[in-house]
Amino acid sequence: MESLQNNRSIFALPEQAQLAPGDFEQAASLLKIRAGIVLGEHKHEMAGRTLALRAHAVGCRTVREYLDELARNSVSPEWEMFVNAFTINHTAFFREQHHFDILARFARTRSKPISVWCCAASTGEEPYTIAMTLREACPQPDVGVSIWATDIDTQAIRRASEGMYPLERVKPVPEDHLRKYFQRGTGRRAGMVRVKSNLRNLIEFDVFNLLQNDWPAPQSFDAIFCRNTMIYFDKPTQTKILERFAPTLKAGGLLFAGHSENFTYLTGAFRLQGQTVYVKK
Ligand SMILES: C[S@@+](CC[C@H](N)C(=O)[O-])C[C@H]1O[C@@H](n2cnc3c(N)ncnc32)[C@H](O)[C@@H]1O
Repeated sequence: MESLQNNRSIFALPEQAQLAPGDFEQAASLLKIRAGIVLGEHKHEMAGRTLALRAHAVGCRTVREYLDELARNSVSPEWEMFVNAFTINHTAFFREQHHFDILARFARTRSKPISVWCCAASTGEEPYTIAMTLREACPQPDVGVSIWATDIDTQAIRRASEGMYPLERVKPVPEDHLRKYFQRGTGRRAGMVRVKSNLRNLIEFDVFNLLQNDWPAPQSFDAIFCRNTMIYFDKPTQTKILERFAPTLKAGGLLFAGHSENFTYLTGAFRLQGQTVYVKK
């Protein structure tokens, strides 16, 4: 999109972000092919605003010109911004607490080292919760615990790796965990906390698209967290991803899904253990 970036200042941001006929459909198709995300019709208005802003930012006269440029250049750096603009990053520490009780019991009995993939880690609250859970369940420092935290959203995963949160965000974290794993900001960081390096060091952060081709090696993980993400994909995409999860899990490995996600009828590779937790068959 280099050619478009030169004339950035010539065009004013359109006051009304009305999409021309076909723009929404083209954006939805590009997003689905690249990220698997299905853009529902109810997102029309939001898509209009988002696309008008992105078109303006790269100096495109119209949304159509912007989308055509994206479609023409599959390696444009603008793809990153396009995808980031449409991801939904809602998350929280200790979201769906029962999963962490199950993970703790699983970790205590599992042979070590133990390795967990958090494949839609968003801004980090979920992988840090996994890390606290594993460290509490396996407190001996010589017991290996590792977490691979990935997300397609480059901005979200950057924030995750920084591990810095407003105090408000850490309300669900138990007081003793707060003292043990977080440090309070001072000066211009007052009102913020940062995850201590003793926890951050258990996690490796990376950008990873669940639709990409190069996947982790077979038998890499004891558990996978893929929560509240498949709901944005259609059924064939969900099935394809589930069938790629299965070989990356070790025998008896667990797959944690979101509260409204049901994978039972999509693949024979997993058996429902209960409370949206699946065990590899
Ligand atoms: C609603 S958040 C869920 C966060 C966390 N798993 C939780 O349950 O709290 C969904 C996340 O999925 C990520 N995502 C969407 N499409 C993806 C893809 N194709 N590959 C990897 N991550 C994706 C988004 O960037 C977003 O951070």
